[in-house]
Amino acid sequence: MDLKISEIRERFNNLNPKSREDLEKIRIEFLGRNGHVTKLFEEFKSIPSELKREFGKGLNTLKTEIQNKIQEWKSEIESNSTSNVDIDITLQEYPISFGSRHPISLVKNELIEIFKYLGFTVYEGPEIEDDWHVFSALNFPEEHPARDMQDTFFITKGPDVLLRTHTSSVQVRSMEKEDLPIRVICPGRVFRNEAISARAHCIFHQIEGLYIDKNVSFADLKQTLLYFAKEMFGTDTKIRLRPSYFPFTEPSAEMDVSCKLCGGKGCSVCKYTGWLEVLGCGMVDPNVLELNGIDSKKYSGFAFGMGIERIAMLKYQVKDLRLYFENDVRFLNQFKNW
Ligand code: DAH
Repeated sequence: MDLKISEIRERFNNLNPKSREDLEKIRIEFLGRNGHVTKLFEEFKSIPSELKREFGKGLNTLKTEIQNKIQEWKSEIESNSTSNVDIDITLQEYPISFGSRHPISLVKNELIEIFKYLGFTVYEGPEIEDDWHVFSALNFPEEHPARDMQDTFFITKGPDVLLRTHTSSVQVRSMEKEDLPIRVICPGRVFRNEAISARAHCIFHQIEGLYIDKNVSFADLKQTLLYFAKEMFGTDTKIRLRPSYFPFTEPSAEMDVSCKLCGGKGCSVCKYTGWLEVLGCGMVDPNVLELNGIDSKKYSGFAFGMGIERIAMLKYQVKDLRLYFENDVRFLNQFKNW
């Protein structure tokens, strides 16, 4: 048995495997089910018990030696194989391009920052609404055309469930829930049944402002909007208020800002008027206050609402509204450094 052990050891020690395949063959030849070492263990069972002690030790040593050496070869082969892989460390790194914020988000965040400075907090409401929050509580008369299917996306009729057509609905939600005074801005998506073109879309974004307290006046509204215009479009920006009509404000106005491109002289962007229309506003109609459980003799307020796409178009000189919704990276990449 001694002789067999040394024979096997010698045979094993003469080997020099070069690959994983070689190594696997060796493992099977020596340690496999019919391998040399395994067979010797079989033989070992039948030798006289007084010899077992002596040979058992030698046999176990041989097995451990072979196992260890196979492990050692394995590590060697593996480390060689990785260093043989073709790696060109002089190659340029793979260009990873980072995303950027969408221009609508950029403008929305900027608006929030501007009004936050004046004490306005963000207030949000649902996109799926009912007639009360979008129309009735805002003093829309029963037969108002905005309630028409041509203008509004209805989910069900009677009871009316619809997609909000303006963020003014969030005014109603805040009056319902919040204690006075209220000073909120409400950004969000709105939906209108409109044909899609360069100037109109069926989905767009608005931001609404509402301030209700004792003694809130039109002068407060004007000063707030002037501050906003200067922050958003530059300190030399002028504003102008034109009388207008909304069911929920009285008096109502539309605000224009002086055209930045021509400095008010007139150009193709401002259609040679020197002015650009940016928002609607007014003093909250006392009817709206009363409809929402606020005493209009004690309290007054102002409100305003604007399209975020419109502000972004003026700010970034974007001529086609559809670009905001197409997710074309060539368009979006331009806003990386803003
Ligand atoms: N809700 C109006 C719209 O969608 C915008 C608006 C005008 C909001 C005047 C107001 C406001 O809060 O006072 O066109």
